[in-house]
Amino acid sequence: MLVCNTRKALHNAIDESLQGQKSIGFVPTMGALHEGHLELMRRAKSENDLLAVSIFVNPIQFNNREDYDKYPRVAETDRQLLESVGCDILFSPDEHEMYPEPVKERYHFGALETVMEGAFRPGHFNGVAVVVKRLFELVRPTKAYFGEKDYQQLAIIKALVEGYHLPVQIVPCPTVREADGLAMSSRNMRLSPNERAIAPKIYKALSKAASLRNVLSPEEMRIWALNELYKTPEFHPEYVEVADASNLQPLQHWNDAASARIFTAVHLGPVRLIDNVPIF
Ligand code: PAJ
Repeated sequence: MLVCNTRKALHNAIDESLQGQKSIGFVPTMGALHEGHLELMRRAKSENDLLAVSIFVNPIQFNNREDYDKYPRVAETDRQLLESVGCDILFSPDEHEMYPEPVKERYHFGALETVMEGAFRPGHFNGVAVVVKRLFELVRPTKAYFGEKDYQQLAIIKALVEGYHLPVQIVPCPTVREADGLAMSSRNMRLSPNERAIAPKIYKALSKAASLRNVLSPEEMRIWALNELYKTPEFHPEYVEVADASNLQPLQHWNDAASARIFTAVHLGPVRLIDNVPIF
């Protein structure tokens, strides 16, 4: 695995790969890698000549200083995991390398960014868009892989690629879960044993709610899931939304959407967990 810490080194590595007419599968991450990340990487490796991964804890997408400071950083373990999936190029810049000048770009995603994560984490998706666009320009991937765990992020990235005609194909990948249903997340390692034991109830509430599709309206389903989450006193839900899976707008009638999903963000102890599941 070639490790590049500077844009220059990465540029040279990518130039060489592209001259050899190699396709590049790219997985951007913030590290603290888990099986969810590794699944994206295995898929990227199998569908391309080369696998490129970035690890960068992107300060401008955090709207909470403590969340940024406490974000797990485990460079050596990550490196071993990357070797195990056959990563060819790792890009792990520091903050100055990525942002030598103050960031001024502003991206607008219309209604996509006014709901859920966009509403509760102001500036978050702009920070994601800035870093992902820069990473795409540096890595020049053929395909880039994103998890449905962060479904709204995936929609934002698709809009970014479309809006700026970026020459990359976005590949959505299903959420990878622990055996008890909890969506894998780098933040899970900050849960206490008790919090970790109850966290799977988030997924259970969403999947049970989704199974009531034939007896509840979208709004009734939303309230049902919210009440289910409130049964666990340690959970502090920020929102539950039932939305059209294509534009993420709240759904009034099932017939209004070709496919729908139910989404939540829940504070549990020191962390904020998000999850979503398909309804149909
Ligand atoms: P991070 O949270 O490290 O996630 C990197 C990628 O892994 C994202 O596409 C995310 O959706 C995916 N992922 C995380 N957990 C997953 C799971 N349980 N199952 C499937 N995929 C999962 O998302 C980010 O980093 C950042 O916002 C980033 C895109 C790197 C920009 O900074």
